[in-house]
Amino acid sequence: MKLTASLLASVLSIMVATAAPLEGRDNPHNVEPYQDKHSDVAKLFVRAGEKAGKPLANGPTIGSAEWKALYPPVEKVPDVSLTPKSWTAALAAAKKAGGYPSGVPLTTADASGNYAYPAGVNPSVEPVCSFPNGCNKASDFYNAPDGVLALSFDDGPTAATTNLTNFIKKNQISASHNMIGSHIVELPTQFQQIIASGGHLSVHTWSHMHNSALTDEQILAEIGWCMQVIYDNSGLVPKFWRPPYGDLDNRVRFIAENVFNLITVTWNRDSRDWAIPSLFDQTVQKSVDEVRSYVNGSKSPGMNILEHELNNACVTVFETVYTDYVNDGWDIRNLVSLVGRRRL
Ligand SMILES: *[C@@H]1O[C@H](CO)[C@@H](O)[C@H](O)[C@H]1NC(C)=O
Ligand SMILES: *[C@@H]1O[C@H](CO)[C@@H](O)[C@H](O)[C@H]1NC(C)=O
Ligand SMILES: [Zn+2]
Repeated sequence: MKLTASLLASVLSIMVATAAPLEGRDNPHNVEPYQDKHSDVAKLFVRAGEKAGKPLANGPTIGSAEWKALYPPVEKVPDVSLTPKSWTAALAAAKKAGGYPSGVPLTTADASGNYAYPAGVNPSVEPVCSFPNGCNKASDFYNAPDGVLALSFDDGPTAATTNLTNFIKKNQISASHNMIGSHIVELPTQFQQIIASGGHLSVHTWSHMHNSALTDEQILAEIGWCMQVIYDNSGLVPKFWRPPYGDLDNRVRFIAENVFNLITVTWNRDSRDWAIPSLFDQTVQKSVDEVRSYVNGSKSPGMNILEHELNNACVTVFETVYTDYVNDGWDIRNLVSLVGRRRL
């Protein structure tokens, strides 16, 4: 999805970054896969004519035109005039409560699609702390615990989801799926296949934009509408998210974490499956070889690897290396079962 050379450069800079590593989170008794139904954030997701916690009660049939009309137009930033007033109020309340980072300007894209902060701003340090520029925060889910493979797939649901979820079911594992809200509207059947495979439902925004270039209100809408469509069709309000392109800074973190109470997931390894077949001459075999080198490498820290369910090539990479993960003794888990485990 709109992948650019700058993304690769960003990813490489992450791999060599020496920022303080995260060691998982240390509240093992306090993390659930989804928001508590009675929490303030869960109350932000209510559909007209229904009570909180009762998804699609008497709602239109999933996939129908009436159902699609519940959501903003797909594959673009939702118009902020559609934003529910309760979300805007939650953003205002979070800002009032404190912690909103000043001094984090928006990025702009140049002609080749490279997103950059204004001249004179150092995005690698506070107060910006941009992940594509090598900055991690202790609150980001970056490293997996030793010996653990954090299994997650981005950009679903897609036509390739069926093959992926069949493989997952066959092998009796569970993955987190960082999903694009627009894709759920486009492919509701594959969304239901993710649920049926025991998948953990996580957020990857409404239309997969670079968050650092969006206004606060647009980021609110990008995250909020993705949570809404997941909630409406599963009854579950997500608790985890991964920013598209890893495009994350303190302003984006503030909205995700202080308004929506989300746990932010980045990555510490990249399968580069997203580049197959059109970028950098990437192939299934090259991605397989790269992942295998990680599999054979150090188990400390564990692998929080970037993988996709974008197309069958990405799924094939995972299916091919799966045996290697198993044979090499990796402990394969979705993101939920990792939170709270500290790296030893
Ligand atoms: C990984 O290790 C196994 C044995 O543990 C070996 O057979 C294989 O060739 C190694 N693969 C790579 C890519 O180093
Ligand atoms: C699913 O996998 C099969 C076997 O590899 C393949 O032929 C088919 O094209 C895949 N489906 C999709 C939608 O990619
Ligand atoms: Zn993505």
